[in-house]
Order: sequence, then structure tokens, then C-alpha cells
Amino acid sequence: MAFTITKAVIPAAGLGTRFLPATKAMPKEMLPVVDKPAIQYVVEEAVAAGLTDVLMITGRNKNALENHFDRVGELEATLLMKGDIERLRKVNYATDLAEVHYVRQGDPKGLGHAVLRARMHVGHEPFAVLLGDDIIDERDVLLSRMLEEQGKRNATIVALLEVDPAQVHMYGIATVEPTDDDDVVCITGLVEKPSREKALSNYAIIGRYVLQPEIFDILEHTPAGKGGEIQLTDALQTLAANPSIAGGVYGVVFRGRRYDTGDRLDYIKAIVQLAVDRDDLGPDLRPWLKDFAKNLE
Ligand code: UTP
Repeated sequence: MAFTITKAVIPAAGLGTRFLPATKAMPKEMLPVVDKPAIQYVVEEAVAAGLTDVLMITGRNKNALENHFDRVGELEATLLMKGDIERLRKVNYATDLAEVHYVRQGDPKGLGHAVLRARMHVGHEPFAVLLGDDIIDERDVLLSRMLEEQGKRNATIVALLEVDPAQVHMYGIATVEPTDDDDVVCITGLVEKPSREKALSNYAIIGRYVLQPEIFDILEHTPAGKGGEIQLTDALQTLAANPSIAGGVYGVVFRGRRYDTGDRLDYIKAIVQLAVDRDDLGPDLRPWLKDFAKNLE
């Protein structure tokens, strides 16, 4: 039976070690991408796809995340007094975006463990997972396409990106078979961060999932894997190998713009790519960038 999915789970409890020392006292999901923290792009994407009930999995230094989606009376009053309605609108927008709930992960024992913390809130319904440091450009369609496929197939749906074979060791990699839909593949196997030699394809899982509630039972019994962490990829592999449990696993192949803001180089690229297209920054940034690039030659 098709189910209208309304819940989004956003894991944001990782240690963000690649970004130290910036992430010593602040979650990496709060790093600004132009003038919004990365996490706000992710919540906006969930809301745009119709997911209005957001559960954030947080960890140490959670305050900044919670504060960002909460009211700041003093700031609002000051902006109102100054008549700065445009900035007041921006501040309130983040507050009113969605109903955001929080649960703490305790020890960051891996992405699979973070997702398992959502069990009480989600209950027995399919739900979406959006990684808090992964931004999908709002001009490209992904999550709504995944939700549509979930409704059609009543299966687990993950987002796949074809990556350079030199990068497979950074991702969960899927073995796939074609379906009748051009942008959808059936996943027959998954391996977390394989070496280039062991990878059976270059289809990498990126940070968007539409999961069946059966994932929780599987995660309960998934032992620590790569890096000593409970890996979501390992639980998905169990579902792919046993399609009778919950309809198997399918991948929607994404060919749009995606920014991994947890990676320093990708983070810098994200800011530049998003800023050059903005009406308020692009006209000044573009000629400056061209000039700057000339001097690099
Ligand atoms: P990453 O592996 O990118 O996060 O996890 P990390 O461990 O914070 O990164 P580095 O390597 O130390 O820099 C992907 C997503 O899963 C979340 C992260 O917050 C990120 O959004 N995550 C990861 C958790 O919520 N809990 C965990 O235990 C691990």
C-alpha cells in the first residue's frame, strides 16, 4: 500500500574530524555555505519535497543546531526596531521552516547507529534520511523523485552518483542491474568504501535515502563494520540480498549538482558555485574570479 511519507531524519552527530579545528566546538553542519549553514539547505530540501516532520540526530555541541531553528527574541526585536524587514524575514524563515525534533546519539558509533536512534520517532512507516553535510542543488530534482519511486515500488530507495573510479574508496558502492526506468537501477549488492580494485562499479551512494521501517530491526543486529562503526550500507546490503524482507533496494541515479560540505575542497567549491549564480553576489564575484583565475596561470 502506498504511504504518504512525511518524516525526514537528518543525522548530524558525526565528529567532523576532516574540518578540525573549525569543528572543535561547532558541528560541521553549521558551517556557512555563503550565508546559510549547510543544515538549513538540507531542511529546506526536505520541506520542498513535502517532508514537514524533521528529526535531527545530534551529538556533542548540539546547541548551535537547535538554536538555529529556534526563535531569537532579542535579535528579532532589534531588526524590527531598525526596520530591517528583509533580514528579519530571513531570520524567521529558518525558525518557521519545519517542525524540528531532536534526539541525541550519545556516542557517534556510525551512521547506521545514528539512524537507529530515530526508531521511536519514526515508528512503523517509511521515512527519508538526508545527511546533514550533503547539499543537493535546489535547481536539480532528487528527493521527490526518490519518494515517487518508493510509492511505486514499496522498496528501499537510495541516491546514486557515478563517481570517478579513483574515489570509490570514499563511498558505499552498489552493484546494479538496469530497470525499465532510465534513471532507476536495481541494487543487488553493496560494499562500504571498497578499494578501487575490489569495487564492482562506480555507482556511489550519496546522502539521500528513503528507507522502509524494517531497516531498524536489521540495524539492531548489524555488527560494527568498516572503521569500527555501525554502517548503514551494511544494513542496506542485508536488504538488497533479501528482497523478500522489504521489497529490495533500488537506486535513483542522480546527474545533478551535489556538494559534500564535510569535505574541505568540496566545501570551498560549493560556496563558489552557489555564490556565482546569486543575484546579490554573482555580478561582483564573477569578474573577480575570472581575474583571479588569470593570475593563477
Ligand atoms: P561522515 O563520515 O561524513 O561524518 O558521516 P563524520 O564522521 O563527522 O566525518 P569526518 O570523517 O570525521 O570528517 C556522514 C553523516 O553521518 C553523520 C554525520 O554527521 C554526517 O552527516 N553521522 C556519522 C552521525 O550522525 N553519527 C555518526 O556516528 C557518524
